[in-house]
Amino acid sequence: MRVALLGSGRGSNAEAVLRAQADGRLGRAKVAGLWCDIPTCKMLELGPKYAVPARFLDPGSFKTKFSPEREQAWADDLLAAQIDLLVLAGFMRVIKAPLLDTFAGRIINLHPSLLPAFPGLDGIGQAYKAGVLEAGCTVHWVNAEIDGGAHLGQNRIRREAGDTLETFAGKIHAAEHALLPAVIAHLSETPA
Ligand code: GAR
Repeated sequence: MRVALLGSGRGSNAEAVLRAQADGRLGRAKVAGLWCDIPTCKMLELGPKYAVPARFLDPGSFKTKFSPEREQAWADDLLAAQIDLLVLAGFMRVIKAPLLDTFAGRIINLHPSLLPAFPGLDGIGQAYKAGVLEAGCTVHWVNAEIDGGAHLGQNRIRREAGDTLETFAGKIHAAEHALLPAVIAHLSETPA
């Protein structure tokens, strides 16, 4: 199963997946490359570090979505790389047609909350402000509804009395780093 990791930022979840692959914990999945929509994003540094292709691809001039012709260019590039599964690992752009149609049923997203609670931007900040005692992360199939597809897995953490936003976020990120590679490994071993 050839996997593309799409991201926009730090890339800690992409790195968790690459580490899992290096340790033999990614099942039959193989990371075929990293695709980033921000030319300066840290995630691009993981390419040379883990010897995988990593590229910035222009998403167009919108902030949170692709321009239609650039979304087609992304779809073409991912098709040319013979990708089986698109993994949104901190990818901060909404996926629509044509990318969604080209890879229908083959795109998963990591979100830093226990969906359906706190969808959209800043799931961690939303949960922290709401004062929830249990938080976590979700990996789900991507469909046309934002953070709305069927769940593939969740990982839970407890908020302790002394938690600051920073320590709370740290626990959620650790939960994400365990969940995402496990879901990819599981999918790679599940017959389509
Ligand atoms: C992660 O917490 C991920 O769940 C979140 O962005 C962060 C990326 O961190 N994604 C979203 O909020 C998507 N709606 P990373 O770049 O270190 O992997």
